[in-house]
Amino acid sequence: MSQSPIGIFDSGVGGISIWKEINQLLPNESTIYLADSKNAPYGTKSTDEILALCIENTELLLAKGSKLIVVACNTATTNAIQVLRENYPVKFIGIEPAIKPAALNTKTKKVGILATEGTLSSQLFQNTSKLYASGITVIEQIGEGLVTLIEAGRTNSKETRKLLAEYVEPMIKANIDALVLGCTHYPFLIPTLKTLLPSTVQIIDSGFAVAKQTKSILETEGLGDFDSSAGSHQFFTNADVEVLSSFVPQANTEISFLDF
Ligand code: SIN
Repeated sequence: MSQSPIGIFDSGVGGISIWKEINQLLPNESTIYLADSKNAPYGTKSTDEILALCIENTELLLAKGSKLIVVACNTATTNAIQVLRENYPVKFIGIEPAIKPAALNTKTKKVGILATEGTLSSQLFQNTSKLYASGITVIEQIGEGLVTLIEAGRTNSKETRKLLAEYVEPMIKANIDALVLGCTHYPFLIPTLKTLLPSTVQIIDSGFAVAKQTKSILETEGLGDFDSSAGSHQFFTNADVEVLSSFVPQANTEISFLDF
C-alpha cells in the first residue's frame, strides 16, 4: 500500500501548484493527477454539480489505486470534502485559503483575498474567516474569469493583467499588506501580480502547508513511501494535453488524455 500513488484532482491545471509542493517535499512518492479541465471552472457551479464531479474524480482515483486523495481545488474542498470524507475509506486532504497566517502577520490589519465565488460564499470559508480574522478587515474579491484564462495557458496575457489590475486596485487603496490566493490556479499568476502590487504586500498561498499536511498524514497512517528511488507521475486531462504539459515542470512524467 505504501508504494501506491497519492491521488490528486483539480478542476484543471491549478492543482499542479499543489503537486509541485508535494513533489518537492516528498520526492519518493508516486502520484496520479486528474485535471478535470473539461468541467472548469468549478467556481461558478452549484454545490450539487461540484459534488457530483468530485465523486467521479474520487472514484477514478480510487480505481487507479490511490492510497490518499488531495483535493487540490479550493472550490471542491469547501463544497464537497465533508461528503467525500463520510463516504470513502481513504484520507482526504483539502485546500483552505491561508487566512490564518495572513491575519496573524498583517501589520496594517487589512488583508485581501482573491478566490472563486464558490469558495467565498461557502460556509467553510466564512467560518474560517470569522474564526481567524476577527479585528482584521478582509477584502474579498471574486476572481471572475481568471480560471478560464489560466486554463487557456494565458497567465500573463493583456486580458489577464487587466482583470488582475482591476481586482487588486481596491485592495491596494485599502492598504492591504497581505494577499491570500484562495484558488490553486492563482499561484500561476504570481509573476504578474508582483508587477501590480506594492512590494510591501506579501502574496500567500496554501501549497507548502498542504504538502506538510500530506507528509504528516502519510506518516501517522503508516502510508509513506520510503523507497529511495524517485516517484513516478501520471497526469490525465480530459481536455488539451498540450496545455497541461505546459504547466508540468519535469521529466519522469506521463501526460495523457483520458475521457472522464
Ligand atoms: C475553479 O475551478 O473555479 C477554481 C478552482 C479552485 O477554487 O481552486
